[in-house]
Amino acid sequence: MINENLLTHFSETDAVPEGNKRRNIQALTFVLFGATGDLAKRKLFPALYNLFLTGKIPSSFSVIGVGRREWSHEFFHSKIEESLRNYSRKDVQNDSLQAFLNLFQYCLLDVTDQASYKHLNTLIENREKELGIPENRLFYLSVAPNLVEVIAENLHASGLNQTKGWRRLIVEKPFGTDLKTAQQLNKNLSEAFDEVEIYRIDHYLGKPMVQNLASLVFANPALGSLLDLKQIANVQITASETVGVETRAAYYDNAGTIRDMVQNHLLQLVMMTALHLPENISTDEINLKKLEVLESLRPIAKEEAYKDVIRGQYRDGEVLNTPVISYLDEPGVAENSMNDTYFAARLHIDNPAWTGIPFYIRTGKRLDQKSTRIVFEFKNPKRNSLPADEIVPNLLVLEINPNEDISLKLNIKSPSSERFKPAYINFTTNLDDQSDAYELLLFDAMLGNATFFAHWNEVELSWKWIQPLLEAFENDLLPLHTYPAGSTGPKAADDLLKSDSFNWW
Ligand code: BG6
Repeated sequence: MINENLLTHFSETDAVPEGNKRRNIQALTFVLFGATGDLAKRKLFPALYNLFLTGKIPSSFSVIGVGRREWSHEFFHSKIEESLRNYSRKDVQNDSLQAFLNLFQYCLLDVTDQASYKHLNTLIENREKELGIPENRLFYLSVAPNLVEVIAENLHASGLNQTKGWRRLIVEKPFGTDLKTAQQLNKNLSEAFDEVEIYRIDHYLGKPMVQNLASLVFANPALGSLLDLKQIANVQITASETVGVETRAAYYDNAGTIRDMVQNHLLQLVMMTALHLPENISTDEINLKKLEVLESLRPIAKEEAYKDVIRGQYRDGEVLNTPVISYLDEPGVAENSMNDTYFAARLHIDNPAWTGIPFYIRTGKRLDQKSTRIVFEFKNPKRNSLPADEIVPNLLVLEINPNEDISLKLNIKSPSSERFKPAYINFTTNLDDQSDAYELLLFDAMLGNATFFAHWNEVELSWKWIQPLLEAFENDLLPLHTYPAGSTGPKAADDLLKSDSFNWW
């Protein structure tokens, strides 16, 4: 039973600002499939806890954790507490911890067995009655991709998703493994849930700096004039990681970075960057603008991929002063695997705003640093009148992860040497205590705000753009470059930019 006294600081439905409007999260049941898994432990429990601490969870709130392990409610609570102590952004507050844990109940379930959903239904209904919660149900599928369809089907067949309130389904990536499987998955899900009820998580869309992209130009006219597209030479999007394949070879050696990072996270970053909106627009309009960007993304034919795309795979090396093994020696990776752990590409957006401004994107594992950033490089008409090593192009840098920061790179003359030296001017100093991506996304899903989720039409267009590249990779129509772990990636990726007289930043 929830200790109501500990929850009195929350109103019945907590009013929260959303744009200019104020909306309420209604009382709901959060059904978490995969409650014993890694994502729940590292991200979902801490996210719910931080929402609880900041008063954003409605006071009538029930979480049913579904898993295959034989756990009691009490053991489940102890695992949640452990997760909060290890991963919560905010310190655990002992006086209200029990009230938070009491929101959770555990349900042992074989998700492939339709008959056992009856038990889950009873648990949900009992809690709804006990806490006076209307039949608003949010189903979160944090499970292996092959279980998503069967769960959606069983939710439907067992009647769990036929509620008198609202129902929503949150699904994690990967959403399919290519265009065909994604279309099939979507078709199957749409038999149980309507498109407006399906929330496809792309956690990059939950990163605060990415969410800022939609309003950056609108909210900062000065930045808007700086980002006058006539002055931009190119845009570079980097998502560099120091980690390797870790324990995920079974998935990663088949997916590659093209499916793991590019089809979803990087293309979402391209869309969000190219929005460049001088006005404040609604969720639906943002979705439409993102689609316009994808529709204008020049396709790369598989036979031509070698001209614009670089794929790579790491060899042994040293990352952050620690020796690490080659991808081919990682446990679970196939002998002679041709899987890509690095991807770089030159993109063109053929619309009036971006014509003639290339986008370069790159991502890779076992690189020299962990950094996700977007860099706008400004044109440099003076570059021929000064020594090349003395004056660098101006850059506007948006650091997304792990630091959040906006800075401008300028050339400042040093009076002592009479030479120009590059200097970074930082614009942001107070971005600490930012919410985690999952915190923002869970909150939005509970509120029914789908702005920062991947809509099916975006996902489908992304797969359409990626499909020829998947085929080029499968048929070895372009070389697989190697790079030492701890480096910035294959030399071929540097050459790609050099051929346009640019460098990566
Ligand atoms: C996940 C990928 O979606 O994103 C991982 O599956 C990757 O391979 C991770 O490491 C990177 O996320 P972040 O937030 O650390 O940049």
